[in-house]
Amino acid sequence: MSLILRLCNEKDIDIVYKMANDSTVRENAFSGDAIPYDDHCRWYADSLANVDRIMYIAEERNVIVGQIRLDKQNNKAIISYSVEKNNRKKGYGKQILRSIKREAMLNGIVMLEGLVKKRNVASRKAFVHNGFIESEEENYFRYIYLLKSGDNIEIDKNSK
Ligand SMILES: CC(C)(COP(=O)(O)OP(=O)(O)OC[C@H]1O[C@@H](n2cnc3c(N)ncnc32)[C@H](O)[C@@H]1OP(=O)(O)O)[C@@H](O)C(=O)NCCC(=O)NCCS
Repeated sequence: MSLILRLCNEKDIDIVYKMANDSTVRENAFSGDAIPYDDHCRWYADSLANVDRIMYIAEERNVIVGQIRLDKQNNKAIISYSVEKNNRKKGYGKQILRSIKREAMLNGIVMLEGLVKKRNVASRKAFVHNGFIESEEENYFRYIYLLKSGDNIEIDKNSK
């Protein structure tokens, strides 16, 4: 697998919208309503301009397979991510979380956090697979990862 994360740009507005409005993504989001396109356009422009929000597209051989976003709060970042629906269950979710560690380190982040609805088994497994520590809250699981030296080394593109 040769997955890369690249920064989102203006041209990605529609693919990010399509992934954000996917029915499974909405079900697993904490704000579950469908997103009107105009709202998305405002949000996307604000997000590109926001220095505390870093958005990536995940690609393999120039095919977009998912997206991941870091919302920085000082030296911590909250993760939001998804895999494009036709590419789920192929290991991309695990690979995207693995790849984001390097990007986070390069951006001065020391701690990553993900909040996952209890029924979202795939995401829970993807976080645990990547060494995040799980704790149970009332309505979700919290996953924490403290970045460590070595996480900034470029991943072997041939390994999952
Ligand atoms: C969550 C999501 C990103 C996982 O991505 P993915 O590429 O499908 O996941 P992977 O293929 O890496 O699989 C991760 C693990 O979950 C398992 N899995 C995948 N889909 C599953 C499903 N629907 N039900 C149960 N387990 C599932 C895989 O078998 C794998 O388990 P393993 O480590 O024991 O082999 C993807 O399902 C998605 O985009 N969902 C909608 C958005 C979302 O939920 N985002 C996360 C919000 S916290």
